[in-house]
Amino acid sequence: MDITTGELTADRHRLRTPQPATPKRIGKAVEKLVSYFEWDGPVGCAFPARIKHGVVRTASNIDKSCLGYDIEQGLSDRIGSPVFVVNDADAAGIAEITHGAARHQKHLVLVLTVGTGIGSGLFLDGVLIPNTEFGHVRVRGRNGERYAADSARKRDKLTWKKWARRFQHYLDHIEFLVGPDVIILGGGISNPGKASHYFDYLKSDAEMKIAELGNRAGIVGAAMFAASRLKDGAGSPRD
Ligand code: BGC
Repeated sequence: MDITTGELTADRHRLRTPQPATPKRIGKAVEKLVSYFEWDGPVGCAFPARIKHGVVRTASNIDKSCLGYDIEQGLSDRIGSPVFVVNDADAAGIAEITHGAARHQKHLVLVLTVGTGIGSGLFLDGVLIPNTEFGHVRVRGRNGERYAADSARKRDKLTWKKWARRFQHYLDHIEFLVGPDVIILGGGISNPGKASHYFDYLKSDAEMKIAELGNRAGIVGAAMFAASRLKDGAGSPRD
């Protein structure tokens, strides 16, 4: 990843999410990726959970055995180089605010990644307020992401229009709670060709945009996160 341009310097390499996604299996997958790229430098990793001081604090779509796992230490030990771990939506947000749809955007920006779950990255004047987990606010008596993520559309076999109505309930609630100036929609629903299915059904008082970096966002943001931690003097995650 070239962090100055936001461009990937190699093609993406995709592995299936290990099932169940336990710390051990995740470690193995990371090891495979690192050796595929013959990489021995520092690594940035976007992960679908709240990460506090390198430790996994939520486990909605990963195995519960990840709770309390010191993932930065565990992965660093496993590959023998420093690994810096950031919530996946925070990572996507970092990328979008630097190189994508929210480039240099001031005020309150909310990046929502909508896919298996709903992730959130909140930025005030370009500065990340990490680990917000707005995917889990309750909407119509249900967990927001179970009700309105893209996986809910697939699971409940909804048309795009019906799904958009659900997502609108979610958006209304989030807007009421957070009051963002700009909302960026990312994750699976921002993939090329998808936005035309639902975007015109959605309304918001905030300026709403589709994310620009698509599947790259998490990778780009994770690399930028690692670079900024290194710049802050972290030679290893424990520093
Ligand atoms: C997790 C978040 C994550 C989001 C998107 C949610 O289930 O709790 O941490 O950002 O999914 O992957």
